[in-house]
Amino acid sequence: MNAIEILPHLNAGLNAAAAVCLGIGFVLIRLGAKRAHRNFMLTAAGISGLFLISYVTLRFFAPIFAFQGEGAIRIFYFILLASHVVMAMAIVPLAGLTLYRGLSGKFDQHRRIARWTWPVWMYVSITGIAVYLMLYQFFPASKVAGLSLV
Ligand code: HEM
Repeated sequence: MNAIEILPHLNAGLNAAAAVCLGIGFVLIRLGAKRAHRNFMLTAAGISGLFLISYVTLRFFAPIFAFQGEGAIRIFYFILLASHVVMAMAIVPLAGLTLYRGLSGKFDQHRRIARWTWPVWMYVSITGIAVYLMLYQFFPASKVAGLSLV
């Protein structure tokens, strides 16, 4: 496996790590642990930032793989993928604004937007893992455009 072939697996791991941080961060704020909430959310943002760099690098060097499943699972995959992509585009400005409002102490506004940001971000992270599993693990393309996938 070459360096680029590792990236889909790394990306799925980063998505999982971001989801865990978001989950812990949510529980922490419900427990009133503001400082720890802040730290976990900043960690989630850092992990998602690394994911973005890794994802763009992967797309630069490797083709987008065609889903190999047939029939109903194919329709499910495309609905999953489309919803993932739309939400992923929304999460960049949403997360940025939520972080800004949290870090600048505008907590009322932060809380209002965070009620949207948190579920959307969680959805993007979890569907990112689901897309990875369907594309690379459950229905893998063995060799596409000279790039072998394990
Ligand atoms: C984008 C990252 C973040 C997300 C997704 C997020 C999410 C949330 C959520 C879901 C809540 C609870 C809202 C509710 O009451 O239903 C909350 C509250 C809160 N967050 Fe964040 N948060 C983020 C970053 C931050 C940062 C960086 C800080 C920095 C201090 C922060 C400070 C707080 C505080 C103080 C509250 C309690 C606000 C209140 O009840 O008045 N958060 N956040």
